[in-house]
This record gives sequence, C-alpha cells and structure tokens, in this order.
Amino acid sequence: MKVDELRSKYIEFFKCKDHVQIQGKSLFPDNDPTVLFTTAGMHPLVPYLLGEAHPEGRRLTDYQKCIRTGDIDAVGDPGHLTFFEMLGNWSLGDYFKEEAIAMSFEFLTAPQWLGLPLEKIGVTVFEGDAAVPRDEESAAIWKRLGIPADRISFRPRADNWWGPAGLSGPCGPDTEMFIDMGQNPCGPNCAPGCSCGKWLEIWNDVFMQYNKTPDGVYEPLARKCVDTGMGIERTVTILNGKKSVYDTEVFEPIIRGIEAISGACRYGEDPEKDRSLRIIADHIRAGTFILGDPKAVSPSNGGAGYVLRRLIRRAVRHGRKLGVSGTLLSPIARIIIAQMQGAYPELTENASRILIDLDQEERKFMETLQKGEQEFEKLLPNLLKDPGKIISGRLAFKLYDTYGFPIELTEELAMEQGMTVNRLEFEEAFKKHQDLSRAGSEQLFKGGLADQGERSVKYHTATHLLHKALRMVLGDHAAQKGSNITADRMRFDFSHPAPMTEEEINLVQAIVNEQIQRDLPVSLEIMSLEDAKAAGAIALFGEKYESQVKVYSIGDFSKEVCGGPHVERTGDLGIFSIQKEQSSSAGIRRIRAVLK
Ligand code: SER
Repeated sequence: MKVDELRSKYIEFFKCKDHVQIQGKSLFPDNDPTVLFTTAGMHPLVPYLLGEAHPEGRRLTDYQKCIRTGDIDAVGDPGHLTFFEMLGNWSLGDYFKEEAIAMSFEFLTAPQWLGLPLEKIGVTVFEGDAAVPRDEESAAIWKRLGIPADRISFRPRADNWWGPAGLSGPCGPDTEMFIDMGQNPCGPNCAPGCSCGKWLEIWNDVFMQYNKTPDGVYEPLARKCVDTGMGIERTVTILNGKKSVYDTEVFEPIIRGIEAISGACRYGEDPEKDRSLRIIADHIRAGTFILGDPKAVSPSNGGAGYVLRRLIRRAVRHGRKLGVSGTLLSPIARIIIAQMQGAYPELTENASRILIDLDQEERKFMETLQKGEQEFEKLLPNLLKDPGKIISGRLAFKLYDTYGFPIELTEELAMEQGMTVNRLEFEEAFKKHQDLSRAGSEQLFKGGLADQGERSVKYHTATHLLHKALRMVLGDHAAQKGSNITADRMRFDFSHPAPMTEEEINLVQAIVNEQIQRDLPVSLEIMSLEDAKAAGAIALFGEKYESQVKVYSIGDFSKEVCGGPHVERTGDLGIFSIQKEQSSSAGIRRIRAVLK
C-alpha cells in the first residue's frame, strides 16, 4: 500500500465513523511557546483538548506534518526520523476508551481497511502508579476484541503515558499498538513495547485526562478526550513487509537520488554509508518541509533557524563522506517536492524559497567545511598522540572561532577517530570569548535604573522579561547589549545576526505578556557573583560587580544580576507591545517597545 492510499483510507474510515476531516497545520505551533516545532498531530488541537469548542464538532480526523528533534543524533538508525507524518482521530469529550480502541482495532484488522493479521498485533497499556490507576479497562477491551493476554503488556509511565506535546498541556495514559516484525524474542520478558526491534509501534491511543500546568501540576480535564496518532512512515513499512522506513517508497526515490549524485555509492552495501544515506535523506526532507511551510524560517543561529542550519550542515557533511563534491540539497529537495506536493501543496507554492535557501546554506557551509577539515587533518597526527584520546576544548573552540566549525561536527570527526572532545572546556572557552566581546562592545547598560519613577521602573522589569524571552526564542546568543528607558518607552539592544521574523517577534511578545498575566512575584537576593552565576543568573557584560551582587528573580521565569529597582509583581506592568525591531549596528538588533 502506498502512502497516499494509507492517508486516504484512514481519513475515509474515520469519516465513516462520523468524524470531520480538518486541515493539518503549520510545522510551527501557534499555541505553544515551549517548543520550536509541531511535535504531534494533536499539537494544533491543544486549545480544543483543553475545553474550547471546535467549529467542526467533537469528532475530528486529519494528517499532520511533524518534527521531533530531541534525538537528532540518533537519526541514521533504521527507525528514526526527524520529519514524519501523523494520522490522527480525536474525540473532544465524545467517545472514550471503548469506542476508540474498537475503531483502532477495526481499522487495523478489517480486510477492507488495513487487513493486518490479528496474530501480528500486540498492545501495551498503562500499568498504573500512585497518581493514576492501572488501565484494566483498556486491557479488557483488547481482550474482548481478540488480543490474547500474552500480547497485552502492562507498562510504566515512562512508556505508556503521552504528553504534553511541549512543556505544558493535555496528557494522559495511553495504549499503544505494535506489529510483530517476525524476529525471535530477545528473551523471556520480550513483549509488546520491548525495544529490541521485534515490536514496531505504529499507533497510539491517548486518553487525555489531565492538563499539565507550567508549574508541573496535573489538573484533571473537565472533559475527557481521546487523541490518537498513527505514524505514516512506520505503518507503510509494515504494510509492505519492509524492515525499515528507509526501504519504503517514502525514501526510495530520495535515496536513489542521493546515490546518483554521489556516483559510486549504493544503499545496502556498506553500513557506514547506509547511515549517511539515511541521515541525508531524513535531514533534507525535514529541511524541505521547514522551508516549505507558510511560516518558514531561514537558517540562522537561533531557535528553529538553528535546527534547520544543523540539519543542512549535517546532511552536507554526510554527503561529502559519500564522495559528493557538488551541491546535493536542492536536487534532492526537488525530488521531495514532486513526491509530496499532492498532500502538501505549500511545497510547490514555496518551492523557490526551499531550493534557494538550501542551496545558499549548502554552499556557504561547504567553504567552511573545506577549511575546517583541512585544518583538522593537519592537526590529527598530533591529536592522536593524546593517550586519553581527548581533543581539548580550546582546540575545538579554535576550530569554531577561526573556521566557523560547529562543535557538533568537531565531535563527529573526533568520534570517527575514536576520540572525544572536552565539551566542558569548549563551553568555558566559548563563554570567555562571549564575555570578552561583550566587554569590548559599547557599554550602554547601567547596572541600576537612573530614573526611578514608577513608569520607568515598570519598563525596567519588562526589560528582564524581554531579555529572557529573546533568549528562549532566538537562543542564548541573544544577549543584552544595551538598554535605554524613559517613562514612555523602552529600547533594548541585543546580539542577533539577522532581523527577527514576524513570528519570532510575536512569540517574544506573547511570552512576555504571558509572564505579566501570570502576575509573577519579583524577588531580590544578595549573594556573591559566583553564587549568582551558579544559580543561573544572567550577569551582564562590562559591569564592574562588587563582591556581593543583587539578583532579581521574576517568579520561575528569569534571574538576573541587576541594581534594580523593580516592580513587586509582573501583573502591574500592563500590556507589553513591541513597536519596532530594527538593526542597531552590525550583529546587534534593537527592539522598541511600550507598556500600555
Ligand atoms: N499524541 C500522541 C502521539 O504523538 C498520539 O497522537 O503519539
């Protein structure tokens, strides 16, 4: 069965069960400042799972593009993907366990749907803990439907609990469906859910009963919901009797394309090269979808743009390992666009941006790589003499600083030689460099607020919220370079290499306003600078700190070494509104904002 057919069958099945098909959404979530990408089909539905009425009703179905980057370094294994598609059906306070499981079972086993043999299916259910009881109900439903007890495995929260998609939101116990891949069990305890490779998870029914708040509290949801997610790539793998997603029609044309560009390399001949082929295929697919999204970001040094940059760079580097000498990314992206445009017309609409951005970033990085790799080769004989096989952080920093060679790649090169990099030392060198460049830059910032009028004090507190929000959205490189406050407005300068996108600006503004709405208390402690830094406080450039410093904390949100004064609670600030984002000087952006 082809991917297109699987998508339509799923949607058709759930339409027959009175669900309405809704549109999948952007890869960049609207309602969740805690993550960079849409990580699951349910992500865009969070407000509705929390209780808001959905205009299309209480039974919904769709397919959704998703990105998970948590384990970017694991990509390359036969089963891991950064970009994937998820099919889903939702009950918003409508059906619950009984009907959800019965529908999953019917779709999996009925001959006119997927027609999977019953004896290949195994499931897991939640074994219960102090907070939520063992899910005997789901187990009983599966048994009634014909799954024997030895293929119903009770598992702990680490395995059978889903969500939230970001740091807070709806979540609950789940029951997961697995397919027996046919190999022998790894031992007497091998059962559905075992990670040895015998069981491949394809679908997950989550019984959404809780909302995890930003403070980590699980509040029962007023209305119980069901959220299910079926991984398209994995399901197509098993439906076609393949062992890996990379052997399916999803990846075949992409891998053929990479082989052709590389010249001699063939998938299936050399495990090391296969890994590179998989990494390239996965990363270009993810990059194509990031750039093809209506809310796309370009490669940059912060947030989603940095993830994109890493994906592109990793693909380029593995291309070189396969002997690719020219550009690889845009020709492969063209294959992906052609393959996926039916289900995702936005790829055609944004094709030129996809191809241009990939190509530019690839060329830029190839130059960097060439210089860095030559340098690394030169150093290698000496490096290999180190008895502990450790590359010093100072050297890794030099490669970064002089050749723009990312630390992740130095680590990869090191790994190939059986060496490791002293990451801690690298971080220290990096930090020292940042401090130095801060000290050398224009020192507009004053440790305390000169004008201590009520309005200015409010703006001063807003400055801390803005600083933290910028770091969350753009990355830690977004450090304060200066600020200027009057009773009527604030100006804030910070390091960032590119103009902020509209989405980034909106997100930063939303995060600040969220902290204002949370009415967080502002508290002051006096401690040594060392302790302040150890406590994670942001200390600013060029400040001559006394031995004891004042540290202002805004709830759990921000902590900064600062002279003060500040308001007592963020609720006093009003509404924070960014009026303008512009360049201040090379590499420094300026935000003008007001409190209304
Ligand atoms: N949200 C669940 C998952 O991602 C089910 O859709 O697995």
